[in-house]
Amino acid sequence: MKESHFQTLIGTRAGARRGVCMIEVNHISKDFVAPKKYPGLSGAIKGLFSMEKVVKTAVDDISFTIDTGEVVGYIGSNGAGKSTTIKMMTGILTPTKGTCTVAGINPSRNRKENAQNIGVVFGQRTQLWWDLPLSESFTILKEIYNVSDVDYASQMEFLNRVLELSDFFDRPVRTLSLGQRMRADLGAALLHNPKVLYLDEPTIGLDLVVKDNIRQAIREINEKYQTTVILTTHDIGDIEELCSRIIIIDEGKKIYDGSLADLKDTYGTKRKVSMEVKQPEKLRGLCIHEMLGVKSDECTMELDYKNSMLSVTFDKHKLQVPQVLSAVMGVAEVKDVQIQETELAEIVKEIYNHGLSEGIGGRS
Ligand SMILES: Nc1ncnc2c1ncn2[C@@H]1O[C@H](COP(=O)(O)OP(=O)(O)O)[C@@H](O)[C@H]1O
Ligand SMILES: [Mg+2]
Repeated sequence: MKESHFQTLIGTRAGARRGVCMIEVNHISKDFVAPKKYPGLSGAIKGLFSMEKVVKTAVDDISFTIDTGEVVGYIGSNGAGKSTTIKMMTGILTPTKGTCTVAGINPSRNRKENAQNIGVVFGQRTQLWWDLPLSESFTILKEIYNVSDVDYASQMEFLNRVLELSDFFDRPVRTLSLGQRMRADLGAALLHNPKVLYLDEPTIGLDLVVKDNIRQAIREINEKYQTTVILTTHDIGDIEELCSRIIIIDEGKKIYDGSLADLKDTYGTKRKVSMEVKQPEKLRGLCIHEMLGVKSDECTMELDYKNSMLSVTFDKHKLQVPQVLSAVMGVAEVKDVQIQETELAEIVKEIYNHGLSEGIGGRS
């Protein structure tokens, strides 16, 4: 290993400073050229012989910078262009337009040098040797990345603690459960202590306990080494627990870049009050928005007779919780009350559905 890539004694990476730019993505686009598809069976045959091509712009003029030690959620619906962006940042794909620099290196031009700086986990497929015991995959990676014996020992001690790899270290990768395999993949990506960690759907298909372990491990790695983490996920829990900043992309374009708190402030204008009521049938047919003198989309209610629960969702700029409560209490007896902010999942869904309204920005 070159110089002190690890700084085992004090437990932080030499020279890693937060606030210093680690990744710079400058107007990158990626076009894929694919044969034109025609509908139906005859179309499929026609497609085989046709020379016609279509160009699909998977990533469309995206720019951002990411500082050392940031944990950024890169999110968007299926096919939005997340994996394509990650592949350009890792050097697997070359941008059609624009440039990208990771730790001062152009990833697609200097793939070997870049590989020393990055770790990658694609949740959908493993990077490990399927038939070999996990321990042998690690031995091979140690050689590939030129990790010294001392660094290997200390990093394995750390990885074993946060990912509990020793439980299955001698088993062939193909015999591991999905959760074990993901822990193994994450460990393998971190063996050479990369400056940047790319995680593409790292918690997909995992149960809650394993998800929690993986999140905890990512947090510890980021804290210990100031590792910069870029994470794509469909799991809002991953984002809420790990990312201070999110970038949302849609159809290849960046539509939001900023803090989670700002996103919630701007979009989370809805509030929900759930009440356990004594006689829910008394509330049947209640026209709550009229009672409160607001428009129908500013206050809606849902009644669950089986559990005697009434939920009222309202715009927090139009109504206050006590107004809603007193309106309901005038009709039925309320036994218990819960107040919730709008969930991030709903905010993100709203952004996908309606795009961004004016005045929303964050960084550009
Ligand atoms: N190798 C490829 N060839 C042609 N089209 C591709 C290729 N890879 C991705 N695409 C297309 O680019 C778009 C973005 O894909 P991707 O980056 O995988 O999205 P995401 O990871 O956000 O789900 C999709 O429409 C996908 O079908
Ligand atoms: Mg993807």
